[in-house]
Amino acid sequence: MAKENAYIDLTGRVAIVTGGGNGIGRGIALRLGNAGADIAIADIDHAAAARVAGEVAALGVRAEAIEVDVADQPSTDAMVKASLGKFGRVDILVNNAGIGGAPGWTGRGVGSTADWNAVFEVNVLGIVHATDSVSAHMMERRSGKIVNIASAAGRRGSPGFAHYSASKASAINVTQAFAYQLAPYGINVNSVCPGVLWTSLWQDISKRRLGMIGDSETTGRKYFEDRLVNVPLGREQTPEDIGNAVAFLSSDRAASITGQALNVDGGAMMN
Ligand SMILES: NC(=O)c1ccc[n+]([C@@H]2O[C@H](COP(=O)([O-])OP(=O)(O)OC[C@H]3O[C@@H](n4cnc5c(N)ncnc54)[C@H](O)[C@@H]3O)[C@@H](O)[C@H]2O)c1
Repeated sequence: MAKENAYIDLTGRVAIVTGGGNGIGRGIALRLGNAGADIAIADIDHAAAARVAGEVAALGVRAEAIEVDVADQPSTDAMVKASLGKFGRVDILVNNAGIGGAPGWTGRGVGSTADWNAVFEVNVLGIVHATDSVSAHMMERRSGKIVNIASAAGRRGSPGFAHYSASKASAINVTQAFAYQLAPYGINVNSVCPGVLWTSLWQDISKRRLGMIGDSETTGRKYFEDRLVNVPLGREQTPEDIGNAVAFLSSDRAASITGQALNVDGGAMMN
């Protein structure tokens, strides 16, 4: 197939993208597929994963939708088993699945205990479970690339969103631990920290924050755009922006890079 960008060529590689059914995960799956990789789109929302699998397959690579709950280790074990059954190997794991809080979270105060538990189960343990599920296979083959989707919120705590920010700071830290642990086996582990994207996650945040401050005039989209004032490049990010960073970190071009957290946020964070 014709490569969108031959500089990053993932032909013959197999990638699992968790949370690949929507938003950023969909953008990552399409970008990796464009670079030639076969993709397992793993999501708790199987219908969404199946839709994206259709879009990825239309690029001329193989795609499979897999239902997974990353908060549950037997489920991530089954995800890896299903990917190996379909494709025979896994070269790339993208831990992208993430949530903003427990169902009905409000964005008030320090967050409820349910919010803290929910984000740590999905945003942190989800990474740990899926990495643990795939690492024996990658260690045996002495190669692999793991990319964790953290957040700019993991760089600086966010008011009303402490539970989420803390989970993303943990995602960055867990990335470093696994990078050390898996380096002797030729496995690179990095994270990407997106800034703000108008996905269902941020649409939800806008709605809840406006409810919290009692503003019925401002639209959710306007509230989101106001966040861009302090972004040096003044632009929101797109799923393609994140997909480009992930494609690079998943490729041989990033062979010497591990344990890093790459901000893709228009310059909002400069650390
Ligand atoms: N949107 C942003 O501005 C932004 C910024 C920084 C980081 N992020 C991070 O990017 C990632 C993707 O977010 P998004 O904006 O695309 O959100 P989204 O809500 O559009 O997509 C998240 C996907 O994850 C899936 N998912 C949720 N819980 C799951 C679970 N337990 N097991 C498997 N799949 C599960 C959902 O079904 C959905 O398809 C998340 O980790 C999020 O924290 C988003």
